[in-house]
Amino acid sequence: MAVIIDGKKVSQEIKDEVKKRVSALKEKGREVTLAVIQVGNDPASTVYVGNKKKACEYTGIRSLAYEIPEETTEKELLELVGSLNEREDVDGILVQLPLPGHINEDKVIQAINPDKDVDGFHPQSVGALSIGQPGFVSCTPAGIIELLKRYNIQIDGRECVVIGRSNIVGKPVSMLLLRENGTVTVCHSHTADLKEVTKRADILVVAIGKAKFITADYIKEGAAVIDVGMDRDENGKLCGDVDFGSAVEKAGAITPVPGGAGPMTIAMLMNNCVYSAEMKLQE
Ligand code: GUN
Repeated sequence: MAVIIDGKKVSQEIKDEVKKRVSALKEKGREVTLAVIQVGNDPASTVYVGNKKKACEYTGIRSLAYEIPEETTEKELLELVGSLNEREDVDGILVQLPLPGHINEDKVIQAINPDKDVDGFHPQSVGALSIGQPGFVSCTPAGIIELLKRYNIQIDGRECVVIGRSNIVGKPVSMLLLRENGTVTVCHSHTADLKEVTKRADILVVAIGKAKFITADYIKEGAAVIDVGMDRDENGKLCGDVDFGSAVEKAGAITPVPGGAGPMTIAMLMNNCVYSAEMKLQE
C-alpha cells in the first residue's frame, strides 16, 4: 500500500511559509501585490480566480481584481497589462486563461513583463527554465517538484517518466526533473508502447486528461505516481488520470485526486508572488 501524498497539507505549509515572508516584507514597508485579470465570466475561471483571491487574503498578499467584460478588445487588454507592467506596486500579473476567442493569448502572455510573470508562461520564463537561469517557474510543475522533495522522494539519478507534453505541465515538469538530475522520458499520444516505458519509471507524472487511464499494470512496484489529471468518472465524480484504486496497491507513493497535485498550484503562485517582491527589494 502506497504512501498517500497529501497535497492539501503541503500546500497549507507553503501558504503558511509565504504568509511569514509577506509579513516580513510588510515590516520593511513593502506590500506584496498580485493583479488578477479575468476577461468574461467563464464559470470555471470564476472559481479559479476566487480561489486565488482567497489564497491572497490568507497569505496577506494584496490582490487587485480586474473582472472585465467578454467584449474587451485585445488592444484594451494589452493596454491594461501595459499599465500594470509600469506600476511599481504590482509584483505579479496573472491573466486567467482561457481568453475569449477574439483575443490572441500568446500576444497577451508575451506582453507581461517577465519580472512579473508569476504564472511562468512568458517565453522568457520558459526559456530561462530550459537553460537553467533564474526566472519564474509555472506553478503546477513547481508544485510537483515541491511535493516530491517534501516527501523525500529522490529525483537525482532516477528514471522519471512524464506522460503528456503540454506547455503548462508536461514540458516544464520534464525540464524541472532534468534540472534535479533525473533521467527523463516524455511520452505522448504517439508513443509506441506506453506501458513498456511507464513500467521503467521510479517517478511517473501523469498529465493526459483521460479519466483513470493509468492502471496498476502501467506502474513499477514502489514507484512514486503524481497524478495531474482533473477528470470526471462515469458517475460524474472528480477523479484523476490514474486509476487510484488499483494504483495505490502497487505504487510506493501516490497523489490522490482531489487533494494531491491540485492544491499545490495556488500555493506555488503565492510563492512566486512573494519571491517577485523579494527579488525587487534586492535590486
Ligand atoms: N487557467 C487554468 N489554469 C491556469 C493557470 O494556472 N494560470 C492561468 N493564468 N490561467 C489558468
